[in-house]
Amino acid sequence: MLFDPVQIKQLTIKNRLCMPPMCTYRAVDGVANFFHNAHYGTMINYGVGLVIIEATSVDPNGRISMEDMGIWDDKHIAPLKGIVDYAHENNTVIMIQLAHAGRKTAKNLPQVGPTNEAYPNYLAPTAMSVADIQALVSAYKQAARRARLAGFDGVEIHAAHGYLLHSFISPKSNTRTDEYGGSESNRLRIVQEILAAIQAEFHGAIGIRYSAEEYIDDGYHIDDYVRIAKTMVEWGIDFIDVSSGGIHPVSIEVQPGYQVPLSHAIKSAVDVPVFAVGLITEATQAEDILTAGYADMIQVGKALLRDPGLPRRWAKELGATLELKSPLNYPNL
Ligand SMILES: Cc1cc2nc3c(=O)[nH]c(=O)nc-3n(C[C@H](O)[C@H](O)[C@H](O)COP(=O)(O)O)c2cc1C
Repeated sequence: MLFDPVQIKQLTIKNRLCMPPMCTYRAVDGVANFFHNAHYGTMINYGVGLVIIEATSVDPNGRISMEDMGIWDDKHIAPLKGIVDYAHENNTVIMIQLAHAGRKTAKNLPQVGPTNEAYPNYLAPTAMSVADIQALVSAYKQAARRARLAGFDGVEIHAAHGYLLHSFISPKSNTRTDEYGGSESNRLRIVQEILAAIQAEFHGAIGIRYSAEEYIDDGYHIDDYVRIAKTMVEWGIDFIDVSSGGIHPVSIEVQPGYQVPLSHAIKSAVDVPVFAVGLITEATQAEDILTAGYADMIQVGKALLRDPGLPRRWAKELGATLELKSPLNYPNL
C-alpha cells in the first residue's frame, strides 16, 4: 500500500510516503537558495511522493530562527517556484507549511501570543490585539496567494508544537476573554478565519498540522482534538496531519509509532486523509499502519534525513515498484 497512489482532494500522489516539514535553518532573509534546491531536490530524486516544505513564516517577525524560510514578500516566490517546478517535472506533489512561531519566535524578534503569558523560559509575549489578529489573517492570505503563484499543490497550516495557532487553540495558553478566547469556538476562531482567507486565494489542497495530545492535565487531549477534527472538516479542511506536544515543556517517552494511535483516533472520526508521523522507521511498520487503516499517508522525518535512499530501499523490501529516473534507475545499482 505504501507505494500505491493516494488521492487528496484533486491531487493524485504517486505513493504514500511523505517528507514532513522540517526546518533546515539555511535561508537568508527567508529566501530559498541552492541549499534548499539540493535538499528538497534530493527527496524528489529519490522518490518521495509528497514533499512538505519546512515551516515557512508568513511574517518576518514569526520566525523560529533568523534562518527560517519565509513567504512574507513577493521576492520569496521565484526561488520557491524553482523547487516546485522541479517537483512537478518529477511527478512529485509538493506543499508548503505556513507558520508563525508566536510565543516561540526567535529571541531577537518580538514575541506575540494570545496573552502576555510566556512559554516557560521564553520571553514574555505581547498579547495580540484584534487588529494584530486581523493583520495576521491577511498575512496568511498574502502567503496563500504567493504559494499559488509559486505553483504549490497544497498548503499546510502549522497549528502544532506550541507555535502561534496552537497557543490560541489550547485552553492551557489561551485565557483571553474576548471573541478569540474562552469557549472552544472562540479559541478556534483565528484558525477558522485563516483557513477562510487561504481558501479565498488558494485552490489546491489545504490541510492542518496540529498536536492531538498536549500531555498536560489542564491541556487538550485526543478526544478534544477528535472533536476539533470534525469541526475543521465542516470548515472544508482537506487533510489532517497529526503530531503532538509542544504547548508546555514536558518530556514524554517516545517509542516507534508513538503518535499513530492519535492518527488512528482522528481517522476513525473523519473522512478526509489523515497523516501519521513520529518514529516510523521501518518499511513493514509503515505498511502495517496503512493496511490497519490507522492513516492514509506516512511521514518519515529524521530517518529520511539520515538516508535519502530510504524510499528506494523500502520499495525493494516491500517488493513494490518505485519509478525513479537516471541514474537511480540503473538496474545494477
Ligand atoms: C530538524 C527538524 C526540524 C523540524 N521542523 C519542523 C517544522 O518545520 N514543522 C513541523 O511541523 N515539524 C517539524 N519537525 C517535526 C517533524 O516534522 C516530525 O514530526 C518529527 O521529526 C517526528 O517524525 P520523525 O520521528 O520521523 O522524525 C521537525 C523535526 C526535525 C527533526
